Order: sequence, then C-alpha cells, then structure tokens
Amino acid sequence: MTAIDALDADWVLDSRAIPTVEVVVTLADGRSAFAQAPSGASTGSHESLERRDGDPEHFRGKGVRGAVSAVRHQIADRLRGMDVSTQEEIDRALVELDGTEDRSVLGANAMVAVSAACARAGALSRGISLWRHLAGDRSPLIPLPMVNLFSGSLHASGGMGIQDVLVIPVGAPDLPAAMEWVDDVYHAAADLLRERGASTLVGDEGGFGAPSRSSEEAIDLATQAIVRAGHRPGSQVAIALDVAATHLVASEGCYDLDGEVLETSQMIETIAGWVDRYPVVSVEDPLAEDDWEGWALAAQRLGPEVQLVGDDLLCTRVPRLERAASLGAANTVLVKANQIGTLSEALAVADRARSLGMGAVVSARSGETEDDWLADLAVASGAGQIKVGSVARSERLAKYNRLLRISRSADAPAWGGTGVLLRTPVPR
Ligand code: PGA
Ligand code: ZN
Repeated sequence: MTAIDALDADWVLDSRAIPTVEVVVTLADGRSAFAQAPSGASTGSHESLERRDGDPEHFRGKGVRGAVSAVRHQIADRLRGMDVSTQEEIDRALVELDGTEDRSVLGANAMVAVSAACARAGALSRGISLWRHLAGDRSPLIPLPMVNLFSGSLHASGGMGIQDVLVIPVGAPDLPAAMEWVDDVYHAAADLLRERGASTLVGDEGGFGAPSRSSEEAIDLATQAIVRAGHRPGSQVAIALDVAATHLVASEGCYDLDGEVLETSQMIETIAGWVDRYPVVSVEDPLAEDDWEGWALAAQRLGPEVQLVGDDLLCTRVPRLERAASLGAANTVLVKANQIGTLSEALAVADRARSLGMGAVVSARSGETEDDWLADLAVASGAGQIKVGSVARSERLAKYNRLLRISRSADAPAWGGTGVLLRTPVPR
C-alpha cells in the first residue's frame, strides 16, 4: 500500500481563460501526480455544482478560491493516510465528505480534480497505466471519436442554433485511421468554407463557427466535406448532432431554432428530416432536459437505429439513466465526470448503461485544459466512444494524442469502433 501524504491545490487557467482547479497529490514515498478540472458552458440544471467564488473583484466572479481551499483543508484532512490505489474508496470518501446530491459543499470541480489526481497517483503506485488502473474488471476499449466540425449556439456566437455538427469515422479500421479520416474531413471543410468566402475561425471546441444561421446548411456542408475528403458518407464517416435543445427553449414546450419558433413535435420532425436526408447516426439532446415524454416520442420517431444521446437529460446520473431506460427516452448516455463529481461514479454510469443495454459516450467539456486523464477514463470505461471536440486546439489534442499513444502501446486494448453506428449511406 502507498499512502496519500498530502494534497495541494491552486488555480490554473482553462481553454476559455477561466480559472479552474489543479490538484497535486503527494504520496508517502515522495512521488506525486496532478490533475485539472474541466468546465462546461452548456450545462444542464441537474449537474453537480461547479464551485465558483462569485466575487466580482476576482476573475469576474469565476474564481475558485473556495474550491481550492476545500481541497487543501477538508479533503486533504479526510484523504491523508488512505491507500491511493483504492480509487473507489477514495471517491466514496469524497462523496460522503460532501454529503449532498449536487456536491455543493466541496464543489464538483474540487472533487473531480482530486479524484483524477488520486487515480493518476494510484496508477503510479501500481506501476501501470492510468487506463488499466481505472479499468479494474472492465474490458477496456480504444474509443471511436465523435469529432466536432461546426459549432454554434453557446460554443460559437452568432452562428447556427444547434450546438454541434460532428463527424464519426464509423468505418475506420483503427484509431490512427479514424484520426486521419476526420483530419481529412476537417481540412476539406476548411476548403469549402474558404471557397464560399466564409470564415474559418473556430469555436470553443475547435470546430469551425457555422457559416450561417442555418443548422441544416452546416449539416449539408459537413456531408459535402466528407465527400470532398474522399470518404463515403454514412458507411465510412457519419454525422452526429448535439442539438443542446435545453438552451433553445423559448417558452414551455417551444424552441427557437435558427430563428423559427417550433413546438416539440415540429422539433422532432425537423430532426427526423435531417436524419432522413443526411448520414446522421447520432442525435444528442434533441429536446429540453426535463421533457421525458417528448424524448420518448423522439426515440419512437427516430427509431432504434439512431443513437439518441442524453447529456442535459441524464447529467451522468444513474437514477435519470434508469428513468430514461424505463420510458424508452434515450438509448445512450453522455458521461461527463464533472457532471457527477468523481471518476468512479462516472464509470458506474457507463457500467449501468451497459447493464441496461444502452450505450455510453465519454465526453470532455467545452472548457478544458492540457490534462489528458479523460482519454484514459474513456478507454477504461469500455464505452467504445469518446467526444472531445475537434482536431484543433491543444486542450482537445492532448486527449486525442494520448489515445493514439495508448492505441500504439504494446498492451493496447481492442478498437471499439468496429461495427457500431454503421448505417447504409444516404443516397444523395
Ligand atoms: P459543455 O457542452 O461542456 O459546454 O456543457 C458540451 C456538450 O453539450 O456536450
Ligand atoms: Zn451536449
């Protein structure tokens, strides 16, 4: 056993110039490991709380002095002396110390950074890689990436209503090919934008700002980019959408999509139309975070072939996942560790999805750092899919490049991208 000797924390800056929590855990043998917390912008109201100071004189209220202090004092006092290799016990101690559903005592940003730093130190103490340490009895997989191509809504101002148009290299034989294919598509999209005289400036996750207010135009352009890059739409590279509809709500049961006010049934029909006309295989948050009935209708209309992903709907919470399963309201959960608080809880949500016959996609946040623990978490979960953003901006590439290194290691786990999300190409 290697005991935790000390925990320290401080603020560093994230990819949006906002402070976030960095934690360093030092072991009794003198070795140490660090981790940093990610941060969302398009957050669901059922997410755990990200603790911010709210002091307008300090980082415009976004300071994390309180979260840092929680790590240095309450959390350090509780974890000191614990065996660092027992991740689930460490995470349970954090959850019990906080004692709330929404992690409002310690803050989920403090908790997730401590959880990840301890995981990394635990792997170090066992002399194994982080993904293997976290995997335990699970069957790890190299995940198929869901890669941001065009951004709108809260991640790129002034553009389309839906948040992301993404590409998934569903036909790639391995991760290096998958990354090369999406890189081809990314550059083809840049060429298409330049030919139209449109901007190639990128949004928070490295995807291009959508060229117009029309979400459908961005989906059409993504399909053209796949063709231009020499890949077959649907069978080699498919499209995923994150509608992030919670943030489009105009009034109860009504959405403002690209300047048009739509009722729930019209939202569903609009999205179903995109699925019919374009190689869309995955749709995230098509409706608002508490519209369980609407989601069940959307699931029926889109059918089981379409991956229907709950992000704001499920908020990485087992009870909400179970409710979705019983209502047939989604077939896949987006797993964001800071939406719940600890890595063990995030893994437990992916495990529960599997036992319910549902899928899981392990996801980054729009605010990220150079820290790459998410890549190991995704591999360890065996979820088989990851969503990190685009193939630009180094806080995104830290994760992709870590995945490439894992996939090229001598003991690399199997590729998770075989045969999932394949659909007959849409005729064009
Ligand atoms: P967020 O968005 O990290 O800004 O919350 C990501 C998503 O909606 O998937
Ligand atoms: Zn989302």
